[in-house]
Amino acid sequence: MIRVQGGVRLDGTVPVSGAKNAALPAVLATLLTDQPVQIANAPHLADVETALELARALGKSANWEGDRLTLSGAVSVTRAPEDVVRRMRASFLALGPLLARLGQAEVPLPGGCAIGARPVDLHLRGLAALGAEVSIEHGIVRAQGALKGAVVHLDYPSVGATEQLMLAAALAKGVTVIVNPAREPEIEDLCALLSSMGASTHWEADRLSVAGQPALGGASHRVMPDRIEAGTYLLAGALVGGEVRVANIRPQHLEALLAKLSQAGLDLARGDDWVRITREGTPCAIDVETAPYPGFPTDLQAPWIAFLTSTEGRGVVRESVFESRFAHVPELRRMGASIDLEARTAIVLGPTPLQGAAVKVPDIRAGAALLLAALAASGETALDGIALLRRGYERPVDKLRTLGASIWET
Ligand code: EPZ
Repeated sequence: MIRVQGGVRLDGTVPVSGAKNAALPAVLATLLTDQPVQIANAPHLADVETALELARALGKSANWEGDRLTLSGAVSVTRAPEDVVRRMRASFLALGPLLARLGQAEVPLPGGCAIGARPVDLHLRGLAALGAEVSIEHGIVRAQGALKGAVVHLDYPSVGATEQLMLAAALAKGVTVIVNPAREPEIEDLCALLSSMGASTHWEADRLSVAGQPALGGASHRVMPDRIEAGTYLLAGALVGGEVRVANIRPQHLEALLAKLSQAGLDLARGDDWVRITREGTPCAIDVETAPYPGFPTDLQAPWIAFLTSTEGRGVVRESVFESRFAHVPELRRMGASIDLEARTAIVLGPTPLQGAAVKVPDIRAGAALLLAALAASGETALDGIALLRRGYERPVDKLRTLGASIWET
């Protein structure tokens, strides 16, 4: 349980950790080689531990030294353990590398989760286009066959499907061209790792090419900063008030959020690897629609709604990436927020004073929204289900304490 005594200004600097959504594909990319791969700036998160558990179950050795991971050894198991894949959706990215490395793979279908059905049809159609025979029996995806480079068009720029195909293509025979790939910074990060392992990647206007190699070597890679963690702490400063500086980031990864915060009237300053936000007075409500990068990130939609409760006017938020990603709304209403929901749109009227309450964390980013609301609310908030929050945020209590928050764990 995390408890927060709200209404305390936030002032200070937050060091941002390595990106969860870059570290996870990086761990799975190590399945492609027997050689040692070092991954620096890896965040200590439950999801990263789950990815390491999966890699070990498949035959790799995996060890921490500070924030640096080293994975080595040959994968020897073609079947991913069900309990691990069901625990974390990104485990499904084991399919492509296992298939590419061993010629066959069996990975359970990932469950849907709090934010939607999250099908994997684009992953499977893409692997089939590379020559794999893909079938699903009793909830297990089976793929086998030698992979050959091909042109694969993605109906939607899916982050996971793009990563899945990049990982498979890295050991396929010939060049794979992914048309309409995801363009999130995490994709660039994976390109950099695969290139340093020996698979060359190349971006053009609407496509990403990956030239497969017979074998890949070891590498030493540094994970990019977590743009979603950075955006979450900026929104904490925007909501609660004070002067918050997020450090060790790439501001260019946050342009959509920074533009919206400026439009809302927040005072922003930025350097090469930091952004500072200052809230003076009442910002005005600004509409947002989530979209694939470089659009407004869906992972900041929930924290944005928490921020909107403190702005003047009517803010319309359209969630265009996932079909049901408003689990934070009922909990925010319990804290006094005025939010109407219509299908994939939330309409927030503000400013409304928030009161502390006992709330339950339904998913990672909804949990972040509730934590931000707790920091702004009058009185005490008790957040239950913080294990979910820890899947996406490293040491949130310590980091908020450095900003002056009255927050503790019981
Ligand atoms: C990644 O999920 C992230 N997770 C998500 O972050 C993030 O919200 C999402 O990308 C969008 O940016 C990781 O990187 C581990 P998608 P992913 O495939 O790959 C549909 C967090 O909180 N789709 O781009 O699953 C899908 O249903 C998490 O850190 C298909 O229809 O996202 C969704 O509506 C949450 N068929 C849309 O595409 C497919 O085969 C975007 O999904 C694949 C996806």
